[in-house]
Amino acid sequence: MKNNCFICPVCKSPLRLSENGASLICEKEIKPHCFDIASEGYVNLDRDHAGGGDSKECVRYRTSFLDSGYYDPIADKMCEILKSIAPEKGILLDAGCGEGFYTTSFARELPQLSFYGIDISKHAVRHGAKRAKKEALSGCIYAVSSIFELPFGAESIDIITSLFAPCPETEFSRVLKPGGYLIIAAAGEKHLLGLKKVLYDEIYLNEERADMPSDNFELVKKENLFFKINLRSNEDIRNLFSMTPYYYRTSQKDKEKLNSLSSLESEIEIDFFIYRKV
Ligand SMILES: C[S@@+](CC[C@H](N)C(=O)[O-])C[C@H]1O[C@@H](n2cnc3c(N)ncnc32)[C@H](O)[C@@H]1O
Ligand SMILES: [Zn+2]
Repeated sequence: MKNNCFICPVCKSPLRLSENGASLICEKEIKPHCFDIASEGYVNLDRDHAGGGDSKECVRYRTSFLDSGYYDPIADKMCEILKSIAPEKGILLDAGCGEGFYTTSFARELPQLSFYGIDISKHAVRHGAKRAKKEALSGCIYAVSSIFELPFGAESIDIITSLFAPCPETEFSRVLKPGGYLIIAAAGEKHLLGLKKVLYDEIYLNEERADMPSDNFELVKKENLFFKINLRSNEDIRNLFSMTPYYYRTSQKDKEKLNSLSSLESEIEIDFFIYRKV
């Protein structure tokens, strides 16, 4: 974390690596704020230490599912978009990065950039940091923090990616450089239709999200990705189900419909919104 560009979540001055390399310290002269770097290589900058975000179990299900390769086309599409807009050098923030599946894919494909993965879930961030360490991706830094109060100074970030995570427009606009990009990946209207058909008697298509940016960004381009997946085991079906919003919204009776399934075909539809800060 030698060349990190974090700011102190308390006094907002820059954070630098301590002499022994074990923590990040701010520039406050008397009693500087100090944040220890965990052995996995991430730092907790959540001022309130309120916790929250994905639980340990959710992170485990998500990791198992994503590592099975079913969502590789989404990572590939994101990398294709990023390659078309990325500067020769710069900083990408993956806001609400989860357990780092996509952040890591970006770091592999765009080695000219530095990467920050931020998430409120300590379990998710810990996993992301472990992943980066295992793959020796030193340009990939992880921190626990809310994305509604990011530990970055104004106009310090070149690109923000937001995949299936909340989208705080004002805060994203604050940290992005003028002309910086915000790429949002969100569920398209037929996303997970096959799974929904098993669970529910009445099926609705997904609507566009209500928290899309408006005032501070212009939409440069919208792209769509549609494909089908064939889930090959009950475990894969359960892993996918556990990482969807339906996991929390479905009755026990409907959840039990998944018990007897050993395979399932489902539509995957993702909308990619490419915004530029105005
Ligand atoms: C559906 S998951 C997506 C994770 C990852 N982007 C992916 O696609 O695999 C949403 C993530 O947003 C995180 N999250 C929710 N609210 C947050 C907040 N206020 N600040 C930071 N992260 C948040 C959750 O902890 C979770 O990891
Ligand atoms: Zn401070």
